[in-house]
Amino acid sequence: MVGARAQNEGYSTIENASLRGRNTFGVEARAATLVEVRDSRALTGLFGSDLLRAGPVLVLGEGSNVLLTRDWPGVVLSMTARGIEVLDDDGATARVRVQAGEHWNDFVHWSLAEGFGGLENLVLIPGAVGAAPIQNIGAYGAEVRERIVTVDAWDREANAAVRLDNAQCAFAYRDSIFKRDCDRYLVTAVTFALPRRHTLRLDYAGVREELAAMRVAGPTPSSVAEAITRLRRRKLPDPAQIGNAGSFFKNPLVDEAFALALRREHADLPAWPGGAGKTKVSAAWLIERAGLKGLRDGDAGISDRHALVLVNHGRASGAQLWALAQRVRDVVRGRFGIELAPEPRIV
Ligand code: FAD
Ligand code: EPU
Repeated sequence: MVGARAQNEGYSTIENASLRGRNTFGVEARAATLVEVRDSRALTGLFGSDLLRAGPVLVLGEGSNVLLTRDWPGVVLSMTARGIEVLDDDGATARVRVQAGEHWNDFVHWSLAEGFGGLENLVLIPGAVGAAPIQNIGAYGAEVRERIVTVDAWDREANAAVRLDNAQCAFAYRDSIFKRDCDRYLVTAVTFALPRRHTLRLDYAGVREELAAMRVAGPTPSSVAEAITRLRRRKLPDPAQIGNAGSFFKNPLVDEAFALALRREHADLPAWPGGAGKTKVSAAWLIERAGLKGLRDGDAGISDRHALVLVNHGRASGAQLWALAQRVRDVVRGRFGIELAPEPRIV
């Protein structure tokens, strides 16, 4: 049963709210209270109120990188504020501030329509703009940190609104200060620097081939976005068809020497330089080679299209999906001596 909805200045609340439609795995979990904040100026009052002082607070965007394994006993808070503002534009680069509740992919398409580049490789990543800095979203040879100037957030430790510059965000592969200290910051807006002209990134496997198949001779940010959209639609299962959260594990960073030894045994293991004496190896390959691709245990499964994607075939619970993920982790550890780390937040 869904409890009463109440409207307040800048936010609304729902008691005993279902989160099934708010996570792309489509698993059921309930929030004692769901708070939707449409104006970040309401946060000062909210964080001073009993509502948020009392219990644990879980921040939720569009739920495309979380696995809910249980009900949430306190407040689930969602930033729904919308708005895109061009702060300045010198003809070469524009600084654009975007509210946390904008859809990421809509913002990418807005930027392309305005003639700005820099986000085309990150097209079609699900989720909200406010979540983009959390794990420093990345795809097809680009990461969002390359375009972020500042992140506006509510700092629960300081009980104040703060603005972090790019260095303070401590971005790394699928990581940032926000992901490491996930109870501290609530992102309210992100400011990007977007170039009108820049060198396109076409080196990720498949991009040039897709452009060729599209008969594009002189690629533009828009045609690169189109090529990557096609690649992504082919490779990844669509959460609207089958519940999933994209890659369930990060690609592990292992010592170079270890990777070399592994590749002597398995010449086809995809690997990339990881920096600082590390090599990044393909988690999808490890899982497939361990014989787990397409595996199914009840309604929890590993996609038969992409071995790194955990899927909900119907009514799997978050706990069942998590049990399967741990089984995958155990098998890969036993077979290759590599520890896989989950990419989504496990609640
Ligand atoms: P949620 O899932 O709601 O939240 C994710 C995390 O961010 C949680 O820890 C949450 O607490 C926190 N969070 C969310 N909003 C805020 C906020 N305003 N302030 C503070 N914390 C917040 N990711 C990639 O990097 N690259 C990809 O190519 C990619 N492909 C994907 C493909 C599919 C089909 C799917 C389902 C997911 C994919 N993802 C990918 C993962 C996901 O899209 C991103 O991580 C996205 O940024 C999550 O956004 P969200 O709004 O759904 O966040
Ligand atoms: N592969 C397999 N089996 C599979 C799928 C892939 O062996 O079932 C191998 C392929 O041979 C390929 C390699 O794995 O050479 C890499 O595959 P892919 O290009 O699909 O990329 P990925 O490493 O699996 C990462 C990101 C994705 C991102 C793509 C494209 C992580 C954890 N995942 O996936 O991000 O879209 O690259 O850049 O870094 C996400 O984070 O949710 C996500 C989808």
